Amino acid sequence: MTEPTAPADLDFSRPTIARAYDRLLGGKDNFEADRQLADHAIQHIPGLQESALENREVLVRGVRHLAGELGVDQFLDLGSGLPTVQNTHEVAQAANPDARVVYVDIDPMVLVQGRAILDENHRTNVITGDVREPDGVLGDPGVRDFLDFDRPVVVMLVGMLHYLSPEVADAVVSRYRDALAPGSYLFLRSLVNTGLPAQEELARITRENLEEGWARAPEDIEHHFGDFELIDPGVVYTALWRPDEPVDANNLTAGQQLGMAGLGRKKA
Ligand SMILES: C[S@@+](CC[C@H](N)C(=O)[O-])C[C@H]1O[C@@H](n2cnc3c(N)ncnc32)[C@H](O)[C@@H]1O
Repeated sequence: MTEPTAPADLDFSRPTIARAYDRLLGGKDNFEADRQLADHAIQHIPGLQESALENREVLVRGVRHLAGELGVDQFLDLGSGLPTVQNTHEVAQAANPDARVVYVDIDPMVLVQGRAILDENHRTNVITGDVREPDGVLGDPGVRDFLDFDRPVVVMLVGMLHYLSPEVADAVVSRYRDALAPGSYLFLRSLVNTGLPAQEELARITRENLEEGWARAPEDIEHHFGDFELIDPGVVYTALWRPDEPVDANNLTAGQQLGMAGLGRKKA
């Protein structure tokens, strides 16, 4: 298999979250160590790839709803991942060509791959940053000068909340909430813990190989919305969050029970 090209100073001997996730999605921006980890996880966690695809699908549904029906035109996509199909800026700008999007990711390869997007889209920006350092992210000129925090902004932690340990998540997510104007939104999707062994097993494999990985109880995901108003249907299994086609809640597959999503709005 031909390896993707990337700067020589990146370490490809160890897997990264972004590249292993790219492998789960069937992308080509990954290396041997990423493929080994992703393939190991696929073997141990039934429905893992389905869950990764479902994560992308809910991101698309959410951004379409936010930029379309809810009329929000600023997005801060935290832990955005490597560019793939139907990226946040493409979905948002299809609904509203003026929508502005900043991608933030800790993996420097996201910026490398994102440069092509920047060259052709002046309403989109990409920065390298650590979500666990909200003041650094919010104070970065690539965020601060690009988005207007006096107006509504969507903060997205989609497929990302579970990389924040319980110890840091509270302070970090509340700092992002506090930075937002009324009418702003928080969009979360996380690995969930409803007592199924595969959920905790996936968190363990992730923690052991990628340092962070935490499966949260549904009420702990909900807790991160603080006093934001939860938009219907609340925090639910991802497939049940505003699906395009009806989904039988009593017949979810193993993969569909790995993650939950929710959207909240900051009150006036
Ligand atoms: C599973 S991917 C999700 C990508 C995208 N949000 C999606 O839903 O398809 C998680 C991303 O979060 C990034 N990430 C993990 N921890 C991070 C941190 N502390 N700061 C910034 N990015 C982080 C990883 O590099 C990876 O690209």
